[in-house]
Amino acid sequence: MKISVIGVGYVGLATAAVLAELGNDIMAADVDEEKIKCLNQGIMPIFEPGLKEMVERNVRENRLKFVSDNKKVIGHGDVIFICVGTPPKYNWETELKYVEDVAVEIAKNMKSYKVIVHKSTVPVETGDKIKKIIKESVEEDVDFDVVSNPEFLREGTAIEDTLHPDRIVMGSDSKKAIEIMKKIYDPINAPLIITSVKSAELIKHASNAFLATKISFINSVARICELSGADVEEVAEGMGYDKRVSKHFLNAGIGYGGFCFPKDSQAFIKIAENLGYDYKLLKATNEINDDQKRIFVDKVKKALGHVNGKNIAVLGLSFKPDTDDMRFAPSVYIIGKLLEKGAKIKAYDPVAMDKAKNILSNVSFCKDPYEASKGADALLILTEWNEFKEMDLKKVKSLLKSPLIIDGRNIYDLSAMEKGGFRYISIGRKDV
Ligand code: UDX
Repeated sequence: MKISVIGVGYVGLATAAVLAELGNDIMAADVDEEKIKCLNQGIMPIFEPGLKEMVERNVRENRLKFVSDNKKVIGHGDVIFICVGTPPKYNWETELKYVEDVAVEIAKNMKSYKVIVHKSTVPVETGDKIKKIIKESVEEDVDFDVVSNPEFLREGTAIEDTLHPDRIVMGSDSKKAIEIMKKIYDPINAPLIITSVKSAELIKHASNAFLATKISFINSVARICELSGADVEEVAEGMGYDKRVSKHFLNAGIGYGGFCFPKDSQAFIKIAENLGYDYKLLKATNEINDDQKRIFVDKVKKALGHVNGKNIAVLGLSFKPDTDDMRFAPSVYIIGKLLEKGAKIKAYDPVAMDKAKNILSNVSFCKDPYEASKGADALLILTEWNEFKEMDLKKVKSLLKSPLIIDGRNIYDLSAMEKGGFRYISIGRKDV
Protein backbone atom coordinates (compact mmCIF):
# COMPACT_ATOMS: atom_id res chain seq x y z
CA MET A 1 0.00 0.00 0.00
CA LYS A 2 1.16 3.56 -0.62
CA ILE A 3 1.56 5.22 2.77
CA SER A 4 2.81 8.64 3.82
CA VAL A 5 4.30 9.50 7.18
CA ILE A 6 4.55 13.13 8.24
CA GLY A 7 7.05 13.78 11.04
CA VAL A 8 10.02 11.48 11.59
CA GLY A 9 10.66 11.66 15.32
CA TYR A 10 10.67 8.47 17.41
CA VAL A 11 7.12 7.50 16.46
CA GLY A 12 7.24 8.52 12.79
CA LEU A 13 10.60 6.95 12.09
CA ALA A 14 9.76 3.63 13.74
CA THR A 15 6.35 3.59 12.00
CA ALA A 16 7.86 4.39 8.58
CA ALA A 17 10.62 1.78 8.97
CA VAL A 18 8.30 -0.99 10.16
CA LEU A 19 5.56 -0.30 7.57
CA ALA A 20 8.24 -0.38 4.85
CA GLU A 21 9.61 -3.62 6.31
CA LEU A 22 6.09 -5.07 6.00
CA GLY A 23 6.27 -4.41 2.24
CA ASN A 24 4.49 -1.07 1.90
CA ASP A 25 5.64 1.81 -0.30
CA ILE A 26 6.48 4.53 2.23
CA MET A 27 7.29 8.18 1.75
CA ALA A 28 8.16 10.02 4.95
CA ALA A 29 8.62 13.76 5.40
CA ASP A 30 9.89 16.14 8.03
CA VAL A 31 10.25 19.93 8.05
CA ASP A 32 13.78 19.49 9.41
CA GLU A 33 15.77 19.36 6.17
CA GLU A 34 19.02 18.49 7.94
CA LYS A 35 17.34 15.43 9.48
CA ILE A 36 16.08 14.31 6.07
CA LYS A 37 19.53 14.82 4.55
CA CYS A 38 21.09 12.69 7.31
CA LEU A 39 18.43 9.96 7.00
CA ASN A 40 19.10 9.75 3.27
CA GLN A 41 22.79 9.20 4.10
CA GLY A 42 21.93 6.48 6.63
CA ILE A 43 22.62 8.68 9.67
CA MET A 44 19.93 8.19 12.31
CA PRO A 45 18.82 11.21 14.38
CA ILE A 46 18.26 8.97 17.43
CA PHE A 47 19.89 5.91 18.94
CA GLU A 48 17.44 3.03 18.69
CA PRO A 49 18.49 -0.64 18.51
CA GLY A 50 17.78 -2.17 15.06
CA LEU A 51 16.54 1.08 13.51
CA LYS A 52 19.54 1.94 11.34
CA GLU A 53 19.70 -1.52 9.75
CA MET A 54 15.95 -1.53 9.05
CA VAL A 55 15.96 1.98 7.55
CA GLU A 56 19.03 1.28 5.39
CA ARG A 57 17.60 -2.01 4.12
CA ASN A 58 14.26 -0.48 3.14
CA VAL A 59 15.82 2.61 1.54
CA ARG A 60 18.13 0.33 -0.48
CA GLU A 61 15.20 -1.84 -1.55
CA ASN A 62 13.20 1.26 -2.56
CA ARG A 63 10.34 0.84 -0.10
CA LEU A 64 11.27 3.87 1.98
CA LYS A 65 11.97 7.43 0.85
CA PHE A 66 12.63 10.52 2.96
CA VAL A 67 11.70 13.94 1.60
CA SER A 68 11.34 17.40 3.07
CA ASP A 69 8.39 18.34 0.88
CA ASN A 70 5.01 17.84 2.61
CA LYS A 71 3.12 18.52 -0.64
CA LYS A 72 4.87 15.60 -2.31
CA VAL A 73 4.30 13.30 0.65
CA ILE A 74 0.58 14.16 0.80
CA GLY A 75 0.23 13.26 -2.87
CA HIS A 76 1.99 9.92 -2.35
CA GLY A 77 -0.06 7.94 0.16
CA ASP A 78 -3.62 6.67 0.23
CA VAL A 79 -3.11 6.65 3.97
CA ILE A 80 -1.33 9.51 5.75
CA PHE A 81 0.07 9.01 9.25
CA ILE A 82 0.45 12.25 11.20
CA CYS A 83 3.40 11.70 13.56
CA VAL A 84 4.47 15.28 14.25
CA GLY A 85 5.43 16.45 17.73
CA THR A 86 2.84 17.31 20.35
CA PRO A 87 5.09 19.08 22.88
CA PRO A 88 3.85 20.64 26.10
CA LYS A 89 2.94 24.34 26.27
CA TYR A 90 4.16 26.44 29.24
CA ASN A 91 1.08 25.29 31.22
CA TRP A 92 1.46 21.59 30.20
CA GLU A 93 -1.45 21.77 27.76
CA THR A 94 -0.64 19.92 24.54
CA GLU A 95 0.64 22.12 21.71
CA LEU A 96 -1.47 21.02 18.77
CA LYS A 97 -0.15 23.65 16.36
CA TYR A 98 1.97 21.18 14.37
CA VAL A 99 -0.88 18.69 14.03
CA GLU A 100 -3.24 21.47 12.97
CA ASP A 101 -0.76 22.91 10.44
CA VAL A 102 -0.35 19.46 8.88
CA ALA A 103 -4.15 19.07 8.73
CA VAL A 104 -4.39 22.33 6.76
CA GLU A 105 -1.59 21.22 4.42
CA ILE A 106 -3.30 17.88 3.82
CA ALA A 107 -6.58 19.64 3.08
CA LYS A 108 -4.96 21.99 0.60
CA ASN A 109 -3.02 19.31 -1.24
CA MET A 110 -5.14 16.16 -1.30
CA LYS A 111 -6.55 15.26 -4.68
CA SER A 112 -8.13 11.87 -3.89
CA TYR A 113 -9.68 9.99 -0.93
CA LYS A 114 -7.30 9.76 2.02
CA VAL A 115 -7.33 8.01 5.35
CA ILE A 116 -5.78 10.46 7.79
CA VAL A 117 -4.35 8.74 10.84
CA HIS A 118 -3.16 10.56 13.92
CA LYS A 119 -0.57 8.56 15.79
CA SER A 120 0.97 11.19 18.04
CA THR A 121 -0.34 11.40 21.63
CA VAL A 122 -3.10 14.00 21.58
CA PRO A 123 -5.95 15.13 23.85
CA VAL A 124 -9.32 13.47 23.45
CA GLU A 125 -11.37 15.30 20.76
CA THR A 126 -8.33 16.08 18.57
CA GLY A 127 -9.73 13.80 15.84
CA ASP A 128 -12.82 16.02 15.70
CA LYS A 129 -10.58 19.08 15.42
CA ILE A 130 -8.59 17.53 12.56
CA LYS A 131 -11.82 16.67 10.76
CA LYS A 132 -13.16 20.20 11.19
CA ILE A 133 -9.92 21.83 10.02
CA ILE A 134 -9.73 19.66 6.91
CA LYS A 135 -13.40 20.26 6.05
CA GLU A 136 -12.90 24.00 6.38
CA SER A 137 -9.64 24.15 4.39
CA VAL A 138 -10.21 21.57 1.67
CA GLU A 139 -10.05 23.19 -1.76
CA GLU A 140 -11.40 20.40 -3.94
CA ASP A 141 -14.36 18.13 -3.37
CA VAL A 142 -12.33 15.26 -1.94
CA ASP A 143 -13.50 12.69 0.59
CA PHE A 144 -11.46 11.65 3.64
CA ASP A 145 -11.72 9.80 6.95
CA VAL A 146 -9.92 10.31 10.24
CA VAL A 147 -8.52 7.46 12.35
CA SER A 148 -6.89 7.60 15.76
CA ASN A 149 -4.18 4.93 15.92
CA PRO A 150 -2.10 5.70 19.03
CA GLU A 151 1.44 4.43 19.29
CA PHE A 152 2.55 2.56 22.40
CA LEU A 153 6.22 2.01 21.55
CA ARG A 154 8.87 2.44 24.19
CA GLU A 155 12.18 4.09 23.46
CA GLY A 156 14.98 1.56 23.33
CA THR A 157 12.61 -1.13 22.02
CA ALA A 158 10.77 0.98 19.42
CA ILE A 159 11.23 -1.45 16.52
CA GLU A 160 10.41 -4.53 18.54
CA ASP A 161 7.32 -2.83 20.05
CA THR A 162 6.08 -1.67 16.63
CA LEU A 163 6.56 -5.12 15.08
CA HIS A 164 5.16 -7.02 18.07
CA PRO A 165 2.74 -4.73 19.92
CA ASP A 166 0.54 -5.97 22.79
CA ARG A 167 -2.43 -4.55 20.87
CA ILE A 168 -3.27 -2.28 17.97
CA VAL A 169 -5.86 0.39 18.72
CA MET A 170 -7.74 2.06 15.89
CA GLY A 171 -10.62 4.46 16.39
CA SER A 172 -12.82 5.73 13.59
CA ASP A 173 -16.46 6.19 12.64
CA SER A 174 -15.69 5.00 9.09
CA LYS A 175 -15.90 1.28 8.27
CA LYS A 176 -14.05 1.93 5.02
CA ALA A 177 -11.10 3.52 6.86
CA ILE A 178 -10.99 0.69 9.42
CA GLU A 179 -10.89 -1.92 6.61
CA ILE A 180 -7.91 -0.10 5.05
CA MET A 181 -6.16 0.10 8.44
CA LYS A 182 -6.78 -3.61 9.05
CA LYS A 183 -5.03 -4.39 5.75
CA ILE A 184 -1.99 -2.36 6.78
CA TYR A 185 -1.69 -4.16 10.10
CA ASP A 186 -2.67 -7.60 8.76
CA PRO A 187 0.93 -8.96 8.84
CA ILE A 188 1.24 -8.06 12.52
CA ASN A 189 -0.07 -10.65 14.91
CA ALA A 190 -1.73 -8.61 17.67
CA PRO A 191 -5.25 -8.10 19.03
CA LEU A 192 -7.09 -5.34 17.19
CA ILE A 193 -9.10 -2.96 19.36
CA ILE A 194 -11.56 -1.02 17.25
CA THR A 195 -13.21 1.92 18.97
CA SER A 196 -14.54 5.43 18.44
CA VAL A 197 -11.93 8.11 17.72
CA LYS A 198 -12.36 9.59 21.21
CA SER A 199 -11.94 6.27 23.01
CA ALA A 200 -8.77 5.51 21.03
CA GLU A 201 -7.35 8.91 21.97
CA LEU A 202 -8.18 8.28 25.62
CA ILE A 203 -6.74 4.74 25.60
CA LYS A 204 -3.30 6.24 24.99
CA HIS A 205 -3.47 8.84 27.75
CA ALA A 206 -5.12 6.46 30.20
CA SER A 207 -2.49 3.75 29.56
CA ASN A 208 0.43 6.11 30.16
CA ALA A 209 -1.24 7.58 33.25
CA PHE A 210 -1.87 4.11 34.64
CA LEU A 211 1.74 3.02 34.09
CA ALA A 212 3.11 6.22 35.63
CA THR A 213 0.81 5.67 38.63
CA LYS A 214 2.06 2.10 38.97
CA ILE A 215 5.63 3.40 39.21
CA SER A 216 4.68 6.04 41.80
CA PHE A 217 2.73 3.40 43.69
CA ILE A 218 5.76 1.14 44.07
CA ASN A 219 7.96 4.13 44.88
CA SER A 220 5.58 5.00 47.75
CA VAL A 221 5.80 1.39 48.94
CA ALA A 222 9.60 1.74 48.74
CA ARG A 223 9.39 4.66 51.17
CA ILE A 224 7.36 2.55 53.60
CA CYS A 225 9.93 -0.26 53.19
CA GLU A 226 12.74 2.14 54.06
CA LEU A 227 10.89 3.36 57.14
CA SER A 228 9.90 -0.11 58.32
CA GLY A 229 12.90 -2.22 57.31
CA ALA A 230 11.09 -4.29 54.66
CA ASP A 231 12.54 -4.84 51.18
CA VAL A 232 10.71 -3.37 48.16
CA GLU A 233 12.14 -5.98 45.76
CA GLU A 234 10.60 -8.75 47.88
CA VAL A 235 7.32 -6.87 48.22
CA ALA A 236 7.13 -6.22 44.45
CA GLU A 237 7.89 -9.85 43.68
CA GLY A 238 5.15 -11.02 46.01
CA MET A 239 2.68 -8.53 44.52
CA GLY A 240 3.65 -9.30 40.93
CA TYR A 241 2.56 -12.95 41.09
CA ASP A 242 -1.04 -11.75 41.33
CA LYS A 243 -2.05 -11.66 37.66
CA ARG A 244 -4.22 -8.62 38.29
CA VAL A 245 -1.16 -6.70 39.51
CA SER A 246 1.52 -8.25 37.20
CA LYS A 247 5.23 -8.05 37.84
CA HIS A 248 5.94 -5.47 35.13
CA PHE A 249 6.53 -1.84 35.98
CA LEU A 250 7.07 -2.49 39.65
CA ASN A 251 10.69 -1.37 39.80
CA ALA A 252 11.25 1.22 42.49
CA GLY A 253 13.83 3.88 41.72
CA ILE A 254 14.42 7.56 41.11
CA GLY A 255 11.16 7.85 39.20
CA TYR A 256 10.04 8.01 35.61
CA GLY A 257 11.50 10.39 33.05
CA GLY A 258 11.55 10.56 29.27
CA PHE A 259 9.35 12.56 26.98
CA CYS A 260 6.15 10.57 27.51
CA PHE A 261 5.21 9.96 31.14
CA PRO A 262 6.11 13.39 32.59
CA LYS A 263 4.52 15.31 29.70
CA ASP A 264 1.53 13.03 29.11
CA SER A 265 0.55 12.79 32.77
CA GLN A 266 0.59 16.60 33.10
CA ALA A 267 -1.33 16.93 29.83
CA PHE A 268 -3.93 14.42 31.01
CA ILE A 269 -4.44 16.43 34.22
CA LYS A 270 -5.06 19.51 32.02
CA ILE A 271 -7.41 17.62 29.70
CA ALA A 272 -9.42 16.47 32.72
CA GLU A 273 -9.42 19.99 34.18
CA ASN A 274 -10.67 21.47 30.90
CA LEU A 275 -13.47 18.91 30.94
CA GLY A 276 -14.33 19.82 34.55
CA TYR A 277 -12.63 16.96 36.45
CA ASP A 278 -9.97 17.35 39.14
CA TYR A 279 -7.59 14.43 38.49
CA LYS A 280 -6.29 14.09 42.07
CA LEU A 281 -4.79 10.63 41.58
CA LEU A 282 -2.58 11.69 38.68
CA LYS A 283 -1.51 14.84 40.50
CA ALA A 284 -0.32 12.65 43.39
CA THR A 285 1.47 10.37 40.90
CA ASN A 286 3.49 13.34 39.65
CA GLU A 287 4.22 14.65 43.13
CA ILE A 288 5.51 11.25 44.26
CA ASN A 289 7.68 11.07 41.15
CA ASP A 290 9.23 14.47 41.92
CA ASP A 291 9.78 13.36 45.54
CA GLN A 292 11.82 10.36 44.40
CA LYS A 293 14.50 12.60 42.89
CA ARG A 294 14.60 14.89 45.92
CA ILE A 295 14.83 11.92 48.29
CA PHE A 296 17.74 10.54 46.26
CA VAL A 297 19.67 13.81 46.52
CA ASP A 298 19.01 13.76 50.29
CA LYS A 299 20.37 10.20 50.48
CA VAL A 300 23.59 11.38 48.80
CA LYS A 301 23.93 14.36 51.13
CA LYS A 302 23.25 12.22 54.21
CA ALA A 303 25.69 9.49 53.17
CA LEU A 304 28.50 11.98 52.58
CA GLY A 305 27.68 14.38 55.43
CA HIS A 306 27.76 17.22 52.89
CA VAL A 307 28.56 17.30 49.18
CA ASN A 308 30.48 20.57 48.96
CA GLY A 309 33.84 19.85 47.33
CA LYS A 310 33.16 16.09 47.11
CA ASN A 311 33.99 14.15 43.96
CA ILE A 312 30.94 12.25 42.80
CA ALA A 313 30.92 9.70 39.99
CA VAL A 314 27.61 9.40 38.12
CA LEU A 315 26.93 6.33 36.00
CA GLY A 316 23.98 6.65 33.65
CA LEU A 317 22.50 9.86 32.27
CA SER A 318 19.72 8.86 29.86
CA PHE A 319 16.23 8.51 31.36
CA LYS A 320 16.43 4.74 30.87
CA PRO A 321 18.80 2.20 29.24
CA ASP A 322 19.14 1.64 25.47
CA THR A 323 18.37 5.21 24.55
CA ASP A 324 20.32 8.45 24.31
CA ASP A 325 17.21 10.46 25.23
CA MET A 326 17.90 12.99 27.97
CA ARG A 327 14.45 14.60 28.03
CA PHE A 328 13.15 14.78 31.62
CA ALA A 329 15.94 12.41 32.68
CA PRO A 330 16.15 12.27 36.52
CA SER A 331 19.95 12.66 36.13
CA VAL A 332 19.50 16.29 35.05
CA TYR A 333 17.70 17.26 38.28
CA ILE A 334 19.98 15.17 40.52
CA ILE A 335 23.25 16.41 38.99
CA GLY A 336 21.92 19.99 39.00
CA LYS A 337 21.16 19.84 42.72
CA LEU A 338 24.51 18.27 43.60
CA LEU A 339 26.41 20.89 41.56
CA GLU A 340 24.40 23.62 43.28
CA LYS A 341 25.64 22.28 46.62
CA GLY A 342 29.27 22.40 45.45
CA ALA A 343 29.88 18.78 44.34
CA LYS A 344 32.30 17.95 41.52
CA ILE A 345 30.70 15.56 39.04
CA LYS A 346 32.40 13.04 36.75
CA ALA A 347 29.85 11.26 34.59
CA TYR A 348 29.66 8.40 32.14
CA ASP A 349 26.85 7.04 29.97
CA PRO A 350 27.28 4.44 27.20
CA VAL A 351 25.36 6.48 24.56
CA ALA A 352 23.81 9.65 25.99
CA MET A 353 26.92 11.75 26.61
CA ASP A 354 26.74 13.73 23.35
CA LYS A 355 23.20 14.82 24.12
CA ALA A 356 24.01 15.30 27.83
CA LYS A 357 26.85 17.70 26.96
CA ASN A 358 24.29 20.15 25.55
CA ILE A 359 22.26 20.08 28.76
CA LEU A 360 24.72 19.63 31.61
CA SER A 361 27.49 22.13 32.22
CA ASN A 362 30.33 21.88 34.76
CA VAL A 363 30.38 18.09 34.46
CA SER A 364 33.48 16.15 33.34
CA PHE A 365 32.46 13.42 30.96
CA CYS A 366 34.51 10.21 31.17
CA LYS A 367 35.38 7.47 28.69
CA ASP A 368 34.20 4.62 30.92
CA PRO A 369 32.86 3.85 34.42
CA TYR A 370 36.39 3.30 35.72
CA GLU A 371 37.64 6.75 34.75
CA ALA A 372 34.54 8.24 36.42
CA SER A 373 35.18 6.19 39.60
CA LYS A 374 38.80 7.26 40.01
CA GLY A 375 39.18 9.19 43.26
CA ALA A 376 35.42 9.57 43.79
CA ASP A 377 33.91 9.91 47.27
CA ALA A 378 30.74 8.20 46.05
CA LEU A 379 29.46 6.42 42.97
CA LEU A 380 25.86 7.02 41.90
CA ILE A 381 23.87 4.73 39.58
CA LEU A 382 21.17 6.71 37.78
CA THR A 383 20.38 4.46 34.78
CA GLU A 384 20.32 0.66 34.85
CA TRP A 385 22.50 0.02 31.79
CA ASN A 386 23.67 -3.62 31.52
CA GLU A 387 27.23 -2.33 31.29
CA PHE A 388 26.99 -1.21 34.94
CA LYS A 389 25.48 -4.50 36.08
CA GLU A 390 28.42 -6.31 34.51
CA MET A 391 31.31 -4.02 35.42
CA ASP A 392 34.36 -5.16 37.39
CA LEU A 393 33.32 -4.09 40.88
CA LYS A 394 36.70 -5.06 42.39
CA LYS A 395 38.36 -2.61 40.03
CA VAL A 396 35.74 0.03 40.80
CA LYS A 397 36.36 -0.42 44.53
CA SER A 398 40.10 -0.05 44.09
CA LEU A 399 39.58 3.20 42.17
CA LEU A 400 37.04 4.85 44.48
CA LYS A 401 38.37 7.05 47.29
CA SER A 402 35.74 5.51 49.54
CA PRO A 403 33.70 2.41 48.58
CA LEU A 404 30.27 4.04 48.64
CA ILE A 405 27.64 3.24 46.01
CA ILE A 406 24.26 4.99 46.02
CA ASP A 407 22.08 3.15 43.55
CA GLY A 408 18.91 4.81 42.22
CA ARG A 409 17.96 1.73 40.21
CA ASN A 410 18.58 -1.20 42.59
CA ILE A 411 20.87 -3.01 40.14
CA TYR A 412 23.02 -4.89 42.66
CA ASP A 413 22.29 -7.67 45.17
CA LEU A 414 22.58 -6.54 48.75
CA SER A 415 24.61 -9.63 49.66
CA ALA A 416 27.06 -9.14 46.76
CA MET A 417 27.59 -5.55 47.85
CA GLU A 418 28.13 -6.61 51.44
CA LYS A 419 30.61 -9.32 50.40
CA GLY A 420 32.36 -6.88 48.05
CA GLY A 421 33.02 -4.56 50.99
CA PHE A 422 30.89 -1.68 49.72
CA ARG A 423 28.76 0.70 51.69
CA TYR A 424 25.65 0.41 49.55
CA ILE A 425 22.52 2.56 49.66
CA SER A 426 19.62 1.81 47.33
CA ILE A 427 15.86 2.40 47.07
CA GLY A 428 13.37 0.72 49.41
CA ARG A 429 15.98 -1.72 50.73
CA LYS A 430 18.16 -1.75 53.81
CA ASP A 431 21.51 0.05 53.64
CA VAL A 432 24.56 -2.26 53.77
C1 UDX B 1 6.43 5.05 27.63
C2 UDX B 1 5.35 3.95 27.48
O1 UDX B 1 5.82 2.72 28.04
C3 UDX B 1 4.98 3.76 26.01
O2 UDX B 1 3.94 2.81 25.90
C4 UDX B 1 4.53 5.10 25.47
O3 UDX B 1 4.22 5.00 24.11
C5 UDX B 1 5.62 6.15 25.66
O4 UDX B 1 5.96 6.22 27.04
P1 UDX B 1 9.08 5.20 27.33
O5 UDX B 1 8.96 6.62 27.76
O6 UDX B 1 9.95 4.88 26.16
O7 UDX B 1 7.62 4.60 26.99
O8 UDX B 1 9.67 4.39 28.57
P2 UDX B 1 9.24 3.26 29.60
O9 UDX B 1 10.04 2.05 29.34
O10 UDX B 1 7.79 3.09 29.65
O11 UDX B 1 9.78 3.90 30.95
C6 UDX B 1 9.37 5.20 31.37
C7 UDX B 1 10.08 5.62 32.62
O12 UDX B 1 9.60 4.88 33.72
C8 UDX B 1 11.58 5.45 32.62
O13 UDX B 1 12.18 6.60 33.18
C9 UDX B 1 11.84 4.24 33.50
O14 UDX B 1 13.07 4.29 34.14
C10 UDX B 1 10.69 4.39 34.48
N1 UDX B 1 10.29 3.11 35.08
C11 UDX B 1 9.73 2.15 34.33
C12 UDX B 1 10.44 2.92 36.46
O15 UDX B 1 10.94 3.79 37.18
N2 UDX B 1 10.03 1.72 37.00
C13 UDX B 1 9.47 0.75 36.26
O16 UDX B 1 9.10 -0.29 36.83
C14 UDX B 1 9.32 0.95 34.87
